[in-house]
Amino acid sequence: MNKLAQLDHKYVWHPFTQMRDWLKREPIVIAEGNGAELRDVRGRKFLDANSSIWTNLHGHNHPKITSAISKQLKKIAHSSALGFANEPASLLAQKLVEVAGPISVEQESSRAQIKKKSGLDRVSPHLNKVFLSDDGSTALEVALKLAYEFSRRTKKIKSPKFLSLDGAYHGDTVGAVSLGHIDLFHKAYRGLLFRTDKVAAPYCYRCKFNRAKPERDDARNYRQCNFECVGKFEQKFSAQKKKGNPFATFVFEPLMQGAAGMIPQPEGWLKQVSEIARANGALLIADEVMTGFGRTGKTFACQKENVRPDFLCVAKGMTGGYLPMAATLTTQKVFDAFLGEYHEFKTFFHGHSYTANQLGAAASLASLKILQSKKSIRARKILEKNLRAELQSLWQLPNVGDVRQVGLVVGIELVKNWRTRESFDLRDRAGIRVCEAMAKCGVLTRPIGNVIVIMPPYCTTQIQLKKMISAIRESIAAVFRN
Ligand SMILES: Cc1ncc(COP(=O)(O)O)c(C=O)c1O
Repeated sequence: MNKLAQLDHKYVWHPFTQMRDWLKREPIVIAEGNGAELRDVRGRKFLDANSSIWTNLHGHNHPKITSAISKQLKKIAHSSALGFANEPASLLAQKLVEVAGPISVEQESSRAQIKKKSGLDRVSPHLNKVFLSDDGSTALEVALKLAYEFSRRTKKIKSPKFLSLDGAYHGDTVGAVSLGHIDLFHKAYRGLLFRTDKVAAPYCYRCKFNRAKPERDDARNYRQCNFECVGKFEQKFSAQKKKGNPFATFVFEPLMQGAAGMIPQPEGWLKQVSEIARANGALLIADEVMTGFGRTGKTFACQKENVRPDFLCVAKGMTGGYLPMAATLTTQKVFDAFLGEYHEFKTFFHGHSYTANQLGAAASLASLKILQSKKSIRARKILEKNLRAELQSLWQLPNVGDVRQVGLVVGIELVKNWRTRESFDLRDRAGIRVCEAMAKCGVLTRPIGNVIVIMPPYCTTQIQLKKMISAIRESIAAVFRN
């Protein structure tokens, strides 16, 4: 076994990994990356089909991001945000406010038209305050603490209640886990958590209201319904209101729930439920840790449904996938609730050592510039279209139940039989076995249970895309022998 692999086996404990299984085989030790390609210490090449767990945007070793980090490094790597400001963090906060506006970067030209027509020289941003932190989980911790305290201070709610979606995953810190509803990951920690409530999320492929017959075509066009799930959502809010303690905050992943199994929300669902939540006085926390920065076709998924949250949490792709950094954007109203004289102690008592880190901020600024370029916008549109076309071939496989795509995010649900939609038991390790076979074909991704995830970096070429999809096709056929 390679020396580095031996050291890994001896000392490293990997996340979300059964280490007994891990220790049975030699790990792939990544040494380099370039574009959508990774290379290991043995010189083998692999395609990074899940963008290194949903973080990488424009490819590895992008000259502009690498150069921005090196340039910053020559000045300073890090100084504290506790007591000091710094150049890249100030510029980044301004940029995030700009791109998170109700009008996305892809609509820049129409933004200019609006300004011209209305005579306004500025489209005023709704989310204009930025709290920087380190990871998706910390971005959520910031939002939930702010929402909790804001509700207590301004609405005089004694114990503000949170509602999130069934299958929600918002990170692994204790507050973020409290918002989550995936028993496999979260049940063990119940005793440590604060209580939150959950509401059914749409899962059209397995919808209990779905009266469509299990034909191949229905799986592709299952969006013929009367939004019964929206009705249930409304009932949940009114039932809670009757108890005299209405939900203070609704937390959601917009357009697609990631760790739940890449489950898309039908068009219009998010708009309707967020309006119901608002009408009932709840604050909205949008978790765009997975969906942000162009993954779903717009800069942010909320922009696609014209939803304006009170908190927008971003991380993963913020630095282009180069360094850990996150942000929680919020409104002037929330900010103002924490203002006061020193002795009133209204301060937001929260922060991390690396908050507003200069290297991360420099990488983020470079990544956002690439994201806004015409070249990148065009490339993403073409990649999305090609991905949709390539995925069609997977419907032929009897163990593929559903193929779900939102923008550049794909979940392929494996089933025992597409007619019955019967799921594999998790103990069958169906998703893991398919991903192991894909690695042998030179394509790396990680399953979520029985769902194979494809989330290509935006620089993925057509040849690389074809290789990713044929690896899935061949691996599914090989694992299930069909
Ligand atoms: C929607 C969502 N929120 C939060 C997180 C947590 O992010 P991190 O792993 O950076 O803490 C994740 C991670 O996958 C996520 O998908």
